[in-house]
Amino acid sequence: MTVENTEATPLVENEDENSQYEELSHTKSPLYRYSMFALSAIIGIPILYFFLVFLPNEAPDSENIYDLAVASKPKVYLHPVIRPSKVKAESEFASEYGEELNGDVEFLKDPDSPLKKIPNIPKWEYLSSQSELFKSHLEQLTEKEFDGSERPVKRLILVGDIHGSFKPLMRLLKRVKYNAKYDEVLMLGDFLAKGKHSTEVLDWAVKNQIGCVLGNHEIEILKRYAQFHGLPKLTFVGRHGREMNETMKSEIDIKETYDLDDLMRIAKHLTPKQIEYLRECPLIRELGPVPHLTNRKQTHYFDYPAEGFAVHAGLMWNVKNAHEQNPVYVTTMRNLLPPNWTEATENKHDQVDGVKSEPWTKHWNLFQDLQVRKQLENKTESTFMLGKKVYYGHDAGRGLRFKPYSTGLDSGCVYGVALSSEILWAEVEQSAKSEDSKVVYKHQFVQVSC
Ligand SMILES: *[C@@H]1O[C@H](CO)[C@@H](O)[C@H](O)[C@H]1NC(C)=O
Ligand SMILES: *[C@@H]1O[C@H](CO)[C@@H](O)[C@H](O)[C@H]1NC(C)=O
Ligand SMILES: *[C@@H]1O[C@H](CO)[C@@H](O)[C@H](O)[C@H]1NC(C)=O
Repeated sequence: MTVENTEATPLVENEDENSQYEELSHTKSPLYRYSMFALSAIIGIPILYFFLVFLPNEAPDSENIYDLAVASKPKVYLHPVIRPSKVKAESEFASEYGEELNGDVEFLKDPDSPLKKIPNIPKWEYLSSQSELFKSHLEQLTEKEFDGSERPVKRLILVGDIHGSFKPLMRLLKRVKYNAKYDEVLMLGDFLAKGKHSTEVLDWAVKNQIGCVLGNHEIEILKRYAQFHGLPKLTFVGRHGREMNETMKSEIDIKETYDLDDLMRIAKHLTPKQIEYLRECPLIRELGPVPHLTNRKQTHYFDYPAEGFAVHAGLMWNVKNAHEQNPVYVTTMRNLLPPNWTEATENKHDQVDGVKSEPWTKHWNLFQDLQVRKQLENKTESTFMLGKKVYYGHDAGRGLRFKPYSTGLDSGCVYGVALSSEILWAEVEQSAKSEDSKVVYKHQFVQVSC
């Protein structure tokens, strides 16, 4: 027989028939069926996913996201608190924490543990609203800082870039004995993306109406959301409130088209409720009075509080009004470009004509220092707050940075380093003569490992 014939008539010979039968029985083996099943699952599930995600009626409804606020104040104010008259020993604080931190008692053995030094402010009393001290303190606040609509809180807890690190965030809040009744958390942007648990962070933030500013990652997510739902560009208005003068509007272009990346995946699944939450996050929170520290070790409080701002990346020193800051700079800047230092860049290695760019905080601090000196020389001026202090994240490369007028709190939690927070409160400083008592804005730095 010829070779061609064997192929055309395989059943002619008995031996071939047997081998054919064996092959047939092989194709019916469980292994084969499992493989086919797995194969169809591998092909089928992505197709199913594709349809679920792309069919418009399967995606969540869209919400408008234009006219976001550049700057707004928090919905809370720091009501002055009174340290218990018998100042408790540090060990006593530690034992109070120890009861609730069963899984975390390691920290109590560590002599340098910051835990022992965290005053238990949730247990401190509020200064009476009827007291003369409270009334005179209130008189110093302008309507921009206090208009009576705010909820009193004992502490403001500023948290650096969370990036979906939900568990470290929960450990941090437990460590500081966070109590929603007395505390306000403010996330300094980039609380979503990169990490594994963005959904948990966002769900928690929406449910508990946690304070926020937008970071570059939230902006990128909102841009993708706008693209996916065919919405207009993101626009930012310089005043909270829709009566905005149109000329003070700035836009963030969404001309680029985005593929299915991590940010797009988050964007597609955003529900109207989550969008409503993100839409209320401004780029800048105007915090009002905050601690003003004058020495490098950050232990000595200045006679006047500083005016505080919370942003993701930074503020331009040469823009006087927060509402006129550039939305792109505020969420991305790291350095300023020579020679005038009035343009920002995200890239720390940028140069102009061989001159290196410099950290924005350097120019911000130089400028604030100059302003404060000028104001102090001018005795005619009655001042409550002196100097502007910025709390920011975004720069895990440089990590924690403490300067008189800026505090950087991105310590790279998503890269396995640490999650950092700064706790602010207003404390009644009692002197021997009670009529000399005053309100001092204080701070405490707290960190957990990631
Ligand atoms: C908006 O502000 C600009 C500059 O301050 C002014 O020229 C313009 O008339 C204002 N427009 C409206 C609609 O108020
Ligand atoms: C820097 O400022 C000077 C003086 O105001 C101006 O002439 C020059 O054009 C500015 N340079 C840049 C690059 O903006
Ligand atoms: C000093 O304060 C007065 C009143 O507020 C103000 O008019 C003046 O410009 C100030 N001078 C300086 C040098 O800041």
